[in-house]
Amino acid sequence: MSSYDVIFIGAGPGGYVGAIRAAQLGLKVGCVEGRATLGGTCLNVGCIPSKAMLHATHMLHEAEHNFATMGLKGKAPSVDWKQMLSYKDDTIAQNTGGIEFLFKKNKVDWIKGWATIPEPGKVKVGDDVHEAKHIVIASGSAAASLPGVEVDEKTVVTSTGALELGKIPKTMVVIGAGVIGLELGSVYARLGADVSVIEYLDAITPGMDAEIARQFQKMLTKQGLKFTLGAAVQGVAVKGGKATVTYKLRKDDSEHTMTADTVLVATGRKPYTEGLGLAELGVEMSDRGQIKTDSRYATNVKGIYAIGDTIAGPMLAHKAEDEGMAVAEAIAGQHPHVNYNIIPGVIYTHPEVANVGATEEMLKEEGRAYKVGKFPFMGNARAKANFAGDGFVKILADKETDRILGAHIIGPMAGDLIHEICVAMEFGAAAEDLARTCHAHPTYSEAVREAALACGDGAIHA
Ligand code: NAI
Repeated sequence: MSSYDVIFIGAGPGGYVGAIRAAQLGLKVGCVEGRATLGGTCLNVGCIPSKAMLHATHMLHEAEHNFATMGLKGKAPSVDWKQMLSYKDDTIAQNTGGIEFLFKKNKVDWIKGWATIPEPGKVKVGDDVHEAKHIVIASGSAAASLPGVEVDEKTVVTSTGALELGKIPKTMVVIGAGVIGLELGSVYARLGADVSVIEYLDAITPGMDAEIARQFQKMLTKQGLKFTLGAAVQGVAVKGGKATVTYKLRKDDSEHTMTADTVLVATGRKPYTEGLGLAELGVEMSDRGQIKTDSRYATNVKGIYAIGDTIAGPMLAHKAEDEGMAVAEAIAGQHPHVNYNIIPGVIYTHPEVANVGATEEMLKEEGRAYKVGKFPFMGNARAKANFAGDGFVKILADKETDRILGAHIIGPMAGDLIHEICVAMEFGAAAEDLARTCHAHPTYSEAVREAALACGDGAIHA
């Protein structure tokens, strides 16, 4: 039996980051992980592999569409699917190996296996029982199931199966126009698949600023994705290696079908806490299956904490990371704080879509007086040179005080550009503060400054 100050259960972005921070703060730390490699869903079957596939297929798109214009002549590349998957696997291995190195460097023990909590203060892994003054549940999430749909990870897949298909499908139906559906739908559309997306709501990417969502849908449609909105999927039947999706249009209840080589189910995720023994311990859960915690991530059972996808809030790796650091600091006696108003969201399609803070719809609902500063990438010299002139930056600021309330970007490197606005918001900046900050020319970030200028006397290049 080993004895720890803290054991993290799960080595995803929440657990591994928390474990490292706890070790840096002088605690004796163990981290239980049952997968063969560290990094959780994000590194093994989520964020990282999907980004490798998005990068590879974007390069293909550039070669097919823009190389000749730039005077880069020659045969267009063909796709070696096996090699593309192996590049993706190498990317995963480099990253998961990196976490193993960091664990050794920081003296975090990787306890291999699946954990249960037989009683507060104890974590059982296989036949071993470890003692821990504090236990942090960071066990993540799993794809939510859809009634009438059986996932076999071959013909009917979640994001996990979609990242290792035996071959590139000719036709694909994506159920759910959320982040996973659109990122992976884009990958296969670029690889030549005929991709149709079926979405329950009347707009794609629920919760996103509506103007951005409309523009995003137009751009994806131009890239070949087809959308059926306002449609509730009823079930999927597999026959002869093909899948037929039955759905009902909400406007008239009419029933329709769509058949494809592959169906990707991307209708959300749910907390994964099975097998931990939480019910027996009396850990309080919400009716959405999330673990209830206080502001220091403590559950109602003394010594047991929870973070990341297992608790309330957006299911995002970076939100889990912040909570991992915060819970470690709380256990070490510090007073951490996560600012939930400033958690950026990014969709890594091309172009990227990024947001932080309030949407226009939220501000209208609050009845708040606000102003909008917008700037199109068409007015940005760098974007024009790089075939990236589609899209815009939109900054929402308080009408009276000019304080930035939210920002929405659709365009090149949106996922990176959003962070200067996050920092500005963290410091309570006004749009004018951004507008008066010198931005290097020529960079995409000038579009952010121009949007900030547009909140005041006007952008220069629009
Ligand atoms: P999501 O919640 O983003 O989108 C699911 C979509 O499916 C919604 O638009 C919903 O209306 C639709 N839907 C639900 N039931 C349906 C039905 N019966 N018929 C048709 N449509 C239906 O969920 P998604 O894309 O599966 O992602 C899961 C989680 O993973 C999210 O919380 C997401 O934030 C996270 N994630 C984040 C990424 C990023 O930050 N880039 C990348 C991938 C995942």
